[in-house]
Amino acid sequence: MPTSPADLLVTNIRELVTCEPALGEGSLGVIKRAALAAARGRIVWVGEESGLEDHVTVPPFPVRINTLDARGAVALPGFVDSHTHLIFAGSREAEYAMRARGATYQQIAAAGGGIHSTVRATRAASLDELVDLALPRLRALLAHGTTTAEVKSGYGLTTADELKMLEAARRLGELQPVEIHANFCGAHEVPPEYKGRTDAYLDLVVDEMLPAVAENKLARYVDVFCEDGVFSVAQARRVLAAGARHGLRAKFHADEFVTLGGAELAAEVRALSADHLLKARPEGVARMKAAGVTAALLPGTAFFLGLPYAPARAFLGTGVRVALASDFNPGSSMGPNLQLVMTMAVSQMKMSPEEALLGVTLHGAHAMGLEEEIGSLRPGKRCDLLVADVPNWRYLSYYYGVNHVSRVLKGGQLVYER
Ligand code: NIG
Ligand code: FE
Repeated sequence: MPTSPADLLVTNIRELVTCEPALGEGSLGVIKRAALAAARGRIVWVGEESGLEDHVTVPPFPVRINTLDARGAVALPGFVDSHTHLIFAGSREAEYAMRARGATYQQIAAAGGGIHSTVRATRAASLDELVDLALPRLRALLAHGTTTAEVKSGYGLTTADELKMLEAARRLGELQPVEIHANFCGAHEVPPEYKGRTDAYLDLVVDEMLPAVAENKLARYVDVFCEDGVFSVAQARRVLAAGARHGLRAKFHADEFVTLGGAELAAEVRALSADHLLKARPEGVARMKAAGVTAALLPGTAFFLGLPYAPARAFLGTGVRVALASDFNPGSSMGPNLQLVMTMAVSQMKMSPEEALLGVTLHGAHAMGLEEEIGSLRPGKRCDLLVADVPNWRYLSYYYGVNHVSRVLKGGQLVYER
């Protein structure tokens, strides 16, 4: 029997949740009493621990073999958070209190609060300050199991400030273990100096910002807040098409507060994902399914804003792939914890625990176009793995409000231990 050389063994795993049905039981491909082997940061073998010696060889000295004893805990793929706005300055706890007194997100935005208030603070912050403010947020993501995150710009809204945010994202990717992929969201809002001149602002986004972002290779994706009172479907189409000309994949805010046809646009432009979708038409989502677009649902936002959740079951009925993400941002979802997001998905959107777990792993990877690299524990993929101190994987969404993650491996390296 051919054996795989390994430099890392993870042993004594009560349940290994591979998220690959072909590798184990059920839709999550669960292997009981399991072990995993990796070499140079990539998985080389998974299976029952009893088969370890037959399938894996440990190369002779001088290669050092690392062993992680899971001590009877559950192991699963690192979480993939496919939608965050975690770079920002300032904070908006006052708005949060205003909403509790009845103000809506849109009313606060129209009065110059909302995104505008974060834009003012972010413009005033230096690159170093943005990095310093984001580092503890990334530590919180990692501690709760996120090993890869999408991070958006969109609080700068000038060429220099958008580039500053994206440069901060690049530095953050170098300074700490969470892998970061940037999404250029210059079309997040119309800045006050362009009030009433939305198309002129989009000229700036398309003719100046996008070429600079692409030239400096600062983003992988392009986003636009396609929303009533912000950018129309036609305007969003223009931004996404311009992004595509620069090689950026579309991944954008669609049908969050008003049914505009963002889901249909995502299908038309073959976006990687359309996100939020609180008000999307199931017919639009069916078109997304046909076009291979992932639906990224962000229940933390509905929770935090006190809005009805996206109709996840109707969407799942179309066969569309559903990802779940945090939307971590200071205005509409100030929380990094994807375990809690899974709980919301199950209790509020009636997703199954299996669907919820796939949403924050493999389907999150699809929403970022990284499904060949991360999101499941199959040989060939990167060894991004969580150890969770739970009796079985269902506890991840069932026992809520506590952090179950005790250890995190990124590319086979232990990067977090509680
Ligand atoms: O995903 N919708 C626009 N963007 C964010 C909110 C950003 C903010 O309020 O600062 C969202 O909800
Ligand atoms: Fe968002």
